[in-house]
Amino acid sequence: DWTPANIVEETVEAIREQVGDKQVLCALSGGVDSAVAAALVQRAIGDQLTCVFVDHGLLRAGEAEQVEKDFVAATGVDLVVSEVADQFLDALAGVTDPEQKRKIIGREFIRTFEAATRQIAAEHDIEFLVQGTLYPDVVESGGGEGAANIKSHHNVGGLPEDLQFTLIEPLRTLFKDEVRKVGEELGLPEAMVWRQPFPGPGLGIRIVGEVTRERLEILRAADAIARAEATAAGLDREIWQFPVVLLADVRSVGVQGDGRTYGHPVVLRPVSSEDAMTADWSRLPYEVLERISTRITNEVPEVNRVTLDITSKPPGTIEWE
Ligand code: XMP
Repeated sequence: DWTPANIVEETVEAIREQVGDKQVLCALSGGVDSAVAAALVQRAIGDQLTCVFVDHGLLRAGEAEQVEKDFVAATGVDLVVSEVADQFLDALAGVTDPEQKRKIIGREFIRTFEAATRQIAAEHDIEFLVQGTLYPDVVESGGGEGAANIKSHHNVGGLPEDLQFTLIEPLRTLFKDEVRKVGEELGLPEAMVWRQPFPGPGLGIRIVGEVTRERLEILRAADAIARAEATAAGLDREIWQFPVVLLADVRSVGVQGDGRTYGHPVVLRPVSSEDAMTADWSRLPYEVLERISTRITNEVPEVNRVTLDITSKPPGTIEWE
């Protein structure tokens, strides 16, 4: 009988068996998969688990707090936070090419995770690493069916040989909707369980142009408004993903009150999709679009124009970079 409660019980049992009295490490991204995987392992083995959260400053408004406060409160997990926004911004200074941004963010992430891991490994004898691999990923990589936890070695890209661990993959028999149900069963924060897919490089690839602290703040404010209005309209579970993109190198003339403005446009990019391979632009109600536009131009002074992306994928991709 597939119920979230049964899955939790079976998985917890399997993790206990696999881990014994050894120490386990897990990287949290802010996304649902790593959160649910970590919460399952925490339920199974408690303080034998240490989680690492790399706060690179590229998450949306409130998401770092969600991990550091709400997730910790809900699970009691032992969390180590690396605050490295400055390091990431320094590394991204002057960079406008999307693939270059991805490369830099990926490299800095591994570098930071490695440093944190080394520090933790100096105190604990870490044997296992948790990964939030889902069933579709397993199938895609030719793994096929298996128990809730199977072991695989030495396949964490980017970590040096002496920091390779045996993997625990508690979600590898589950689909995304099942992961969400398990997350709810475990009492995780609703905003985390229902978070939309979000790219690893975060807001770094939603600023067209150089990524700076000021631009991140502008985008974060606009994004938070779009998200709040979509949520208030009850659209969260219909929209697959709702990127908001800041065209930071584009300016346009506007007028506000008695004055001329010369600000930046943002692009709303709500899409519907099954798997992100193809997507269609979401037909959001005009009233919702109107509220988002009015609020962003009123509340975010640097933005004086709100546009809507009505391109399907293909030919457009979901993200702009
Ligand atoms: P595109 O833009 O290619 O995106 O239509 C498809 C899905 O992948 C996400 N995406 C990424 N995820 N690292 C990630 O972890 C990336 O560099 C990246 N680029 C795009 C995107 O948000 C969408 O869900």
